[in-house]
Amino acid sequence: MTASSSSPPTAGSALPADLPTGLLIGGEWRAAGSGGTFAVHDPATTDVLAEVSDAGEQDALDALTAADAAFREWRTVAPRDRSELLRSVFEAITARTDEIAAVITAEGGKPLAESRAEVAYAADYVRWFAEQAVRMEGLARRAPAGTHHQLVLRKPVGPALLITPWNFPIAMIARKLAPALAAGCSVVVKPAQLTPLTTALVAEIVRAELAARHLPTGVVNVVPSSSASRISRPLLADPRLRKLSFTGSTEVGASLLKQAADGILRTSMELGGNAPFLVFDDADLDAAVEGAVAAKMRNSGQTCVAANRFLVQEGVAEEFTARLTEAFGRLVVGPGDRPGTTVGPLIQQSAVDRVTEVVQQADDAGAQVRVGGVRSEGRGWFYLPTVLDGVTPDMRVVTEEVFGPVAPVLRFGSEDEGVDLANATPFGLVAYAYTRDVGRVMRLTERIDAGMLGVNRGMVSDASAPFGGVKHSGLGREGGEAGIEEYVDPMYVAL
Ligand code: SIN
Repeated sequence: MTASSSSPPTAGSALPADLPTGLLIGGEWRAAGSGGTFAVHDPATTDVLAEVSDAGEQDALDALTAADAAFREWRTVAPRDRSELLRSVFEAITARTDEIAAVITAEGGKPLAESRAEVAYAADYVRWFAEQAVRMEGLARRAPAGTHHQLVLRKPVGPALLITPWNFPIAMIARKLAPALAAGCSVVVKPAQLTPLTTALVAEIVRAELAARHLPTGVVNVVPSSSASRISRPLLADPRLRKLSFTGSTEVGASLLKQAADGILRTSMELGGNAPFLVFDDADLDAAVEGAVAAKMRNSGQTCVAANRFLVQEGVAEEFTARLTEAFGRLVVGPGDRPGTTVGPLIQQSAVDRVTEVVQQADDAGAQVRVGGVRSEGRGWFYLPTVLDGVTPDMRVVTEEVFGPVAPVLRFGSEDEGVDLANATPFGLVAYAYTRDVGRVMRLTERIDAGMLGVNRGMVSDASAPFGGVKHSGLGREGGEAGIEEYVDPMYVAL
């Protein structure tokens, strides 16, 4: 690896010794202009894992200058060459699964099995968009009046700013970066402050593959920073930037959208969720409990698609809650690299504090804690898997996205009541429903306000499907055929 680091990872940590900790600008790793760094912590121990270069405004602009220069060349590169570049990145990521998974677990805390699954999920996006790069179909036809011919071409929008979250540090970069590169765009990546190390590893893989093929290495630039606005503000005000893709909170997304409006930027926004998990009287309860654990506990509940509200029909409510309580009680909480761990820590102290607060509020308002309900003793930012019964729709644990291992159970009578409860939120990312009634499934597809619906499944994510939400959950889609559309503009040619 040719990467230079502003400082090596802490000795004795699980990180590769040559993991880059600098900024990647124009194909070179370098320190921040200010020379400053920020610390990255292991959430299982709270220890410092590494010091990472802290990019400032000028670094961000330098990265955009490099992306803009590389874009001029990259947009002319043959689709097949872009496709093969991505294919080689897919293969390199897959070959290094264990090494990347160790970094994800070290900085994000999730159990190693989940980190490996995330690497496979991310690689799948890269492979999918390698396949899409050569299928950018346009249109040719005679105008209806017969006066001319029409060509519709699809052109890359230009340099893109990709702002990624900490909860899936490789999957979220993969599903933005791969379609951007497939379409012919160049990028500046601002990784989450809490998990920049995985991004660095992946960026180095892409840089090395570009260099090996004599392609412009400046198409991928990375500017970690302790301040997201220090990067986004100057870039969103710069006319060379043509696209913003953001995954994160609705509050930050709304603020970025306002700034993007001045530059009339193309935007994709994957924002918050508050997923309902509906269990009807006719559900297969074994499947529903298994799906509930998957939908709630992936990454300790820290996903936008996490089931946030368990809405259970009265006929099966007691039985479902008892079985869910048992299943949560069997989960093994611990450091992600300890064999047998099924639930890792939360990402930081403030996350534990927030979960503690919403559970306390529910408890004070009359909910019953069936299991968990407390943080765990000792080092690290852990909170125990929790089931809350007797929950009412006005409690914070229901109205807010909890982002933690807490399952609040609410009961409903009729199908109409269940649907009304499910839709009673400004968010609309995903909903889950367990029922054996096909007619009901079809009614739900019409009546549920969400971008995605999992039927008798606790997991919907797939590289070949359009991931995204409605209402306050966002704009645009990532993955599937739709994912690449976010990075192209149609050009109509009359001839
Ligand atoms: C997210 O939580 O933002 C993404 C989850 C997924 O892709 O499954």
